[in-house]
Amino acid sequence: MQTKEVIAIDGPAGAGKSTVAKAVAKQLGFLFLDTGAMYRCVALLATRAGLGPNVGEAAARLAQQAKIEFRPGDPQVVMLNGENVTQEIRQPPIGDLASQLSVHSAVRQVLVRSQQEMCSVGRVVMEGRDTTTVVCPEARLKIFMTASEDERARRRWLELKQRGVDADLEELKHQIRERDHRDSTRPDSPLRVSKDAVVLDTDGMSIDQVVERVLSEWSARQT
Ligand code: DC
Repeated sequence: MQTKEVIAIDGPAGAGKSTVAKAVAKQLGFLFLDTGAMYRCVALLATRAGLGPNVGEAAARLAQQAKIEFRPGDPQVVMLNGENVTQEIRQPPIGDLASQLSVHSAVRQVLVRSQQEMCSVGRVVMEGRDTTTVVCPEARLKIFMTASEDERARRRWLELKQRGVDADLEELKHQIRERDHRDSTRPDSPLRVSKDAVVLDTDGMSIDQVVERVLSEWSARQT
């Protein structure tokens, strides 16, 4: 199969995919495509429209009308219909609703199409749940990045703390478990390990070590 100049990284919530994908993209001068942010944008629009988690078609219509743009920055700036929603989409209830809405095939179809357009030219590092299996199975490098539940909860807790949000560690663990279950058991494009993915268990690894490993896997795939 012809491969694309794309690195696709999938894995469960809190595995550190975004941090690593962003650093790798920076090193290589590639675009960083955070597919989860797009589901979060739809969840934000749904929240504002007073929609619950069970309205797939209505949420898909919102997704269709949404103009989602990524702009460089640290963190990367997410613009939704011209509004900067970078912070707002990171709120835990928006993440939960994103996971619930992502179960609907109608929503997935709209977002996957747009993600495929964004990565069609190559030179992209993308991360999410189905980037290695559905969005870009022809990616030259596929990574499944994971970490233990305890470690992921701890990382989420630290990340929220840095943003001034005081969260309860046990509650975060519970949310992560629930989200993992939903993301892995939905019928359409569940989170799973693509058979040609490099599996990286990042427990005990620093961000720099993970980034190095991804970069060396990438170099090994250049002809
Ligand atoms: O990676 P994240 O926490 O920002 O993603 C939020 C939710 O969006 C996640 O729980 C499931 C959904 N999602 C998805 O279904 N497919 C993707 N490629 C990315 C995210």
